[in-house]
Amino acid sequence: MAKTLEAIADHGNDGFYTGKRAQKLVEGVRAQGGNWTMADLANYKVIEREPLRFDYRGVHIVTASPPSSGGVLLATILNIVEGYDFANLGPVDRIHVLTEAMRRAYRDRSFILGDPDFVQMPIRLLTSKDYAAGLRCSIRMDRATPSSSLPEGRVVEGGTDTTHFSIIDADGNMAAVTASVNLPMGSGFIIPGTGVLLNNEMDDFALAANQANAYGLIGTDANAAKPGKRMLSTMSPTFAFAPDRVAVIGTPGGSRIATMVLIGLLEFVEGKTAAEIVATPRFHHQYLPDAISAEAGAIAKDDAALLRARGHTISDGERPWGNMNLVIWDLRSNTLSGGSDPRGVVGKIDVR
Ligand code: DON
Repeated sequence: MAKTLEAIADHGNDGFYTGKRAQKLVEGVRAQGGNWTMADLANYKVIEREPLRFDYRGVHIVTASPPSSGGVLLATILNIVEGYDFANLGPVDRIHVLTEAMRRAYRDRSFILGDPDFVQMPIRLLTSKDYAAGLRCSIRMDRATPSSSLPEGRVVEGGTDTTHFSIIDADGNMAAVTASVNLPMGSGFIIPGTGVLLNNEMDDFALAANQANAYGLIGTDANAAKPGKRMLSTMSPTFAFAPDRVAVIGTPGGSRIATMVLIGLLEFVEGKTAAEIVATPRFHHQYLPDAISAEAGAIAKDDAALLRARGHTISDGERPWGNMNLVIWDLRSNTLSGGSDPRGVVGKIDVR
């Protein structure tokens, strides 16, 4: 691995994607039955994308654009939530509203989003206040909306690593970096002699229509695998600019990344500290499976009963809940505070 990194440091892209090292990578994969070619590597280019920008209650958010779905999910959910007097809602109403917003946003992820180089997506519409207002109209406060009743809704069997760091330096430079090999240890294969661990991000594609991936996410043509196409991610490295504070936030967690960052942003807007934000018990809804997945302590017992009475299904969080890292810059006192998730490193993920 060190030699491979040195080759990249010495020769840039060519130290990895072409020449002797590329040959070694291709041979190593092909020897195990894979089908990589030299052209696959030579043609791979890092693409810089414009980040997605939107505002939530006076806070300017700059976050990941497609091919991650994270930013679109955050924009849709927060735009829906903005229409409620969120600060004054009780805990049950808050969870209900957030769940209904998550359900609708992840529905769109399932049917619309994919690699922007392959799929035309109405991103401006999806992230607009008007679109959110339309979605909000379909939310009843007394009942959960069954996901299967939303347009394009289908019932599928629920299927059942990544790291994030947040930096603000002394000059005010900021970095929110989420890096992923997808499931723990990626594909579980290191190409001999290179130290390069292969990811298994292919699972982030919809490999068959409506077949859930390792995170239970479904998808259709928009996120179908095609040569040269990038798979849909949920990674959501995010900057949030409030008038008096700035946050750099992100987390691993597969399909739940966007909703973990969402809950973090809501707490940031409410003035919580970095340490409080990373420790908050979390819950999540991703359209299908049609259930709220809740971490211990996220929903009080009595509140759970009230939510069930509204038609929500609540399940225990079946897998660990991310490893959020967050920095807040308080512009009034010009101080920085960091929060690192007390849950620690994400453990085993059940891959079906
Ligand atoms: O890009 C994505 O959305 C996934 N590859 C992220 C996977 C992940 O967060 C795994 N760690 N918990």
